[in-house]
Amino acid sequence: MSIKEYPPQKSLHVPVLLEPTLELLDPKKDESYLDLTAGYGGHASRVLEITGNYAESILVDRDDYAIKRLKSFSDKGVRLLQTDFVTAARQLIKSGQKFNMILIDLGVSSPQLDQFERGFSFTNSGSLDMRMDRRQVKTAEMIVNTASVDELTRIINQYGEEPIGLSRTIASAIVANRPLSQTGELADLIKQNYRGKWKKIHPATRTFQALRIAVNDELRQINDLLPLLPELLKPGGRVGIISFHSLEDRLVKRYFKEQFDSGFEAEFTSLTKKPIAGSINDVHNPRARSSKLRAAVKK
Ligand SMILES: C[S@@+](CC[C@H](N)C(=O)[O-])C[C@H]1O[C@@H](n2cnc3c(N)ncnc32)[C@H](O)[C@@H]1O
Repeated sequence: MSIKEYPPQKSLHVPVLLEPTLELLDPKKDESYLDLTAGYGGHASRVLEITGNYAESILVDRDDYAIKRLKSFSDKGVRLLQTDFVTAARQLIKSGQKFNMILIDLGVSSPQLDQFERGFSFTNSGSLDMRMDRRQVKTAEMIVNTASVDELTRIINQYGEEPIGLSRTIASAIVANRPLSQTGELADLIKQNYRGKWKKIHPATRTFQALRIAVNDELRQINDLLPLLPELLKPGGRVGIISFHSLEDRLVKRYFKEQFDSGFEAEFTSLTKKPIAGSINDVHNPRARSSKLRAAVKK
């Protein structure tokens, strides 16, 4: 499959919760770093400036655009992996690699949202794509145009957290108006059929989140990754996880709670009694408003 080139993105990604992340990961000279969602290298560049250990550090992202933008790191000897983080984690465990620090900054980057051709947002209309990894076959367009009303209802309800009745209304409207190929068409259709109250956020926001999660299998990725983390960390190694909505944070919170509650078998000690929340006043990055950072240290 040929991969289309999109124009360069206007915006740069401003890393979320950068200072608290640095405080909790606490990088020291010569320590190794694994960034499982390297994006545009915002967090990575600050960590690596401190450690200076490029040769034993690895940056992972499944987006080819992000990987291209990380070339300056590979020039310094950092290994880049373009794959999903579960596959990367399994490969690294197999090869016996362990790290002093791991960061997982979930969700989408600002440049992904701003490249409207990729279909993650509907501020400007683009094709219903939403793939982080453009080598993947499944797109939002495929789901929207082939899933049954029941399946779309489940996706919108579970991943968008819309009430079940409203999810079914949106799903039925989608099925009745297929085929749909543009984000703008879908957003307008949802707006016309939205019977819930909406003031602050556009009525299509939750359905777009739901489709993005379904296209990229985001919750399964998190669920499968969490139990692999202890095997990737050296004793005393720190992991930080930044989430952006309650579905993500719930999985992280549950995993750490099970860990912390499991007595002498626990592999982690908590570094954040309560999650650290991003600022609602962050003018540089609106994504920061809903962000939460949890961190733990390997025993
Ligand atoms: C919020 S951005 C990370 C930004 C980065 N911390 C920075 O400061 O530039 C999230 C990145 O993770 C990638 N990503 C999300 N889920 C992934 C997964 N399951 N496997 C690999 N990469 C993923 C996305 O493609 C995106 O580039």
